Amino acid sequence: MSALTIADHALLSHRMAELRDVATPSPRFRRLLAEIGAMLTMEATRNLPSTTRRVTTPLTEMDHRVLAGPEPVLVAVLRAGLGLLEGAMQVLPDAPVGHVGLARDEHTLKPSQYLLRMPPEVTLRGAILYDPMLATGGSAIAAVARVKEAGAPHLRFVCALAAPEGVAKLRAAHPDVPIITAALDERLNERGFIVPGLGDAGDRCFGTEG
Ligand code: PRP
Repeated sequence: MSALTIADHALLSHRMAELRDVATPSPRFRRLLAEIGAMLTMEATRNLPSTTRRVTTPLTEMDHRVLAGPEPVLVAVLRAGLGLLEGAMQVLPDAPVGHVGLARDEHTLKPSQYLLRMPPEVTLRGAILYDPMLATGGSAIAAVARVKEAGAPHLRFVCALAAPEGVAKLRAAHPDVPIITAALDERLNERGFIVPGLGDAGDRCFGTEG
């Protein structure tokens, strides 16, 4: 079964409280998602393969831990994944970026794909997927499948909020994919929303819903 990491950090938790708050306006919501994306990227990349490089400081020489390979591809699940992606790109500025466009039908809760753009480097570098919400798991399962089909040898899934139902489904469908989240909430409601949750991340991010 894939690893589930619930990132534990005072600053991350502080931002999650504001992100969840119904009174947080869209511009601030976007800013928070970016900051949370940066923090979760640090957690998701904690154990990237590393090697040793000789470094000359002004005083002496030392062997230093450095990345063994190029940065992984960052993949945003549209739309809300764009919020997390912005922060991820600050942490991994040399990473190529892919996009998977998925929209969840509000009645069937099934995702349908409307866009797929993947950099060719994904076949060598692997990928980190970003979507703030792991609810039923349908979108995450589909997004991971698309990135695997594009040839990613390994990947991780990063979200801000996860429901236990979505975690179980994603793990069952893709047991090789570690999940990194800022919070594991109580449950899904009858409309497939995470409870306590934060509402609809895409709409709150871009101010599209009344
Ligand atoms: C939301 C969310 C996830 C998905 C989660 O996106 O950002 O992508 O639903 O639900 P699931 O785990 O049940 O599949 P939505 O389809 O509303 O699109 P949007 O990001 O464009 O708002």
